[in-house]
Amino acid sequence: MLSSEAEAILDEMYTAPKLQGQDGPVEIDPITRVDKTAGSELNRLVRESGAKKSLEIGLAYGFSTIWIMDALAEGGSHIALDPFQSGMWHGVGATQARRLTAKRFELLEDYSIHVLSDFIRAGERFDFIFIDGNHRFDDVLVDFYLADQVLEVGGLMVLDDTWMASIRTVASFVLANRAYRPVPQRSNRMLALEKLKDDDRSWRHFRPFAVARQQTGGLD
Ligand SMILES: C[S@@+](CC[C@H](N)C(=O)[O-])C[C@H]1O[C@@H](n2cnc3c(N)ncnc32)[C@H](O)[C@@H]1O
Repeated sequence: MLSSEAEAILDEMYTAPKLQGQDGPVEIDPITRVDKTAGSELNRLVRESGAKKSLEIGLAYGFSTIWIMDALAEGGSHIALDPFQSGMWHGVGATQARRLTAKRFELLEDYSIHVLSDFIRAGERFDFIFIDGNHRFDDVLVDFYLADQVLEVGGLMVLDDTWMASIRTVASFVLANRAYRPVPQRSNRMLALEKLKDDDRSWRHFRPFAVARQQTGGLD
C-alpha cells in the first residue's frame, strides 16, 4: 500500500524513458530496477515490520528506494550507499528519492565495505537492510557479513537477485550457517531474512551447505 505521493513518483519512474538527474533528464536502462512484484513486497515487508531506519546497498535510479522509504514508520529515515551515484547514474536515484518528502533520505557516495565498517565502529543499527550492490559472490558475502553487524535482532535483511548463482550461494550459506530465517514473500527474485540473534558461533563453526537451484521467494 503506497502513499499517493510515492504512487505518483513510481508511476512516472516505471513509464518515463528519461528521469531527472543532477544535471537534467537522463535516459534510463529499464533492466536496472526492482520489478513491481519485488517492490511491492519490499514495501509490505517494511510496513508490516514497523521499520523506522533502513539501509540500502546500491541506489542506481532509486526504484527500490522509493518502495522502501515510503513504507517506513513515521519519522523514518533511509540511507543509500552507492559510490557511483553521481558518475555512472548521474544522480538520478538521489534526485528521485528526494521527491518523497515525508521521509528523510541520505546518500553516502562510498563503497559499502567502507561505510558498513564505519557504522559497525560507531554502533549504528538498522531495522531493515536491502542488499543490491555489487553482485559478485565475494562482494555479496562481505556485504552480508558486515550488514549483519548493524542489523537489529528481529530486523529484516533482503538479498536481491537470487536468480544469480552468486547470490543464491550466499543465501544458502546464510540459511545453513547463520541465525536467520526466511520470511515468506511473493517475489522469486529476492530472499527476505529475519535476524534471530547476534552472531555467537564458535571460531571453528562451519556447516557445509548445498546451493539451492530454485528461484523461489523462500529458497525452499
Ligand atoms: C542493481 S543496481 C541497484 C538497483 C536499485 N536497488 C533499484 O532496484 O532501483 C546496483 C547498484 O549497486 C551499486 N554498487 C556497486 N558496487 C557497490 C558497492 N561496493 N557499494 C555500494 N553500491 C555499489 C551500483 O553503482 C548500482 O547503482
